Amino acid sequence: MPTVGAALADAEERLAAAGVETPRVDAEWLLAGILEVGRNALAVNVMRPLPEMTAARYADVVKRRTRREPLQRILGWEEFRGLRLRLTNDVLVPRPETEALVEWALGALPAPSAGARPLVVDVGTGSGCIACAIAHARLDVEVVAVDISGAAVEVARANVEALGLERRVHVVATDLTSALGEASADLIVANLPYLPDAWLDALAPEVRAHDPRLALAGGADGLDVVRRLLPDARRVLRPGGVLLLETAGDTLSPAAIGTLQASATATLLSAAGFVGVTARADLAGVTRFIAGRTPAGAGHTP
Ligand SMILES: C[S@@+](CC[C@H](N)C(=O)[O-])C[C@H]1O[C@@H](n2cnc3c(N)ncnc32)[C@H](O)[C@@H]1O
Repeated sequence: MPTVGAALADAEERLAAAGVETPRVDAEWLLAGILEVGRNALAVNVMRPLPEMTAARYADVVKRRTRREPLQRILGWEEFRGLRLRLTNDVLVPRPETEALVEWALGALPAPSAGARPLVVDVGTGSGCIACAIAHARLDVEVVAVDISGAAVEVARANVEALGLERRVHVVATDLTSALGEASADLIVANLPYLPDAWLDALAPEVRAHDPRLALAGGADGLDVVRRLLPDARRVLRPGGVLLLETAGDTLSPAAIGTLQASATATLLSAAGFVGVTARADLAGVTRFIAGRTPAGAGHTP
């Protein structure tokens, strides 16, 4: 029987040889997942023998990872702002940069006030990560989370229920904001498909082969879905309501194709009549998030 330490070292070697960027961390997460312990617990158990059945299951998941199946898809979950979200092949693996979008969304919400129930709409909810994180952080808000994919809606609903948020987060299968009433929302937040077509083939295998295309592909310049959202977002937001979008950013693609998608999105918002249009960078310093608000009414700075 191999020890935990030996099994980890062997897995790390295999993952490194397969080109996995973080072989040790991945080896640890995979074993922790099988043993159903925290990753830190492995360090104090390196001398423990690994039963044969467990070693066989471990070898199996390590093999899947060497084929560049994403770690989160093998584990079946990802953490997002401290919440554990269940994943299937029908939803995007939540990305760390989207946590910054949630941070901005929380800052853009009206301050809590007695009796008020701000309405947030999460468009393209996928796993439900944004909707759940906002509802978890702000107990006074209602969230409508929409996705055009029925399979994604099922995953989001399961996550909402697992986190006990079903009384305040309502998941709806619909195209963008078409099912929502006029002037009903205080905040629309959306991480919609935004990758330009030319980028898709150059993505890392973990993304290209495993994230649903419906979650990625945004047409020639990546902005097809956002363009369709803007007029209806104006209809659905209250006066002074805020629209907050994640974009591919003002950056280079994996194939070194340049884009100024954040700037282009800002221009689209202004052209659609949003005011106070501003941008923010992600943790890597890439200008990626764009906000604007509908005119008239008191409004607040996004
Ligand atoms: C980039 S993923 C984002 C998922 C999730 N919000 C996140 O941040 O991880 C985009 C999501 O938008 C959904 N989507 C694509 N077109 C849509 C549309 N017309 N209406 C609603 N949702 C759409 C996709 O099914 C996918 O779940």
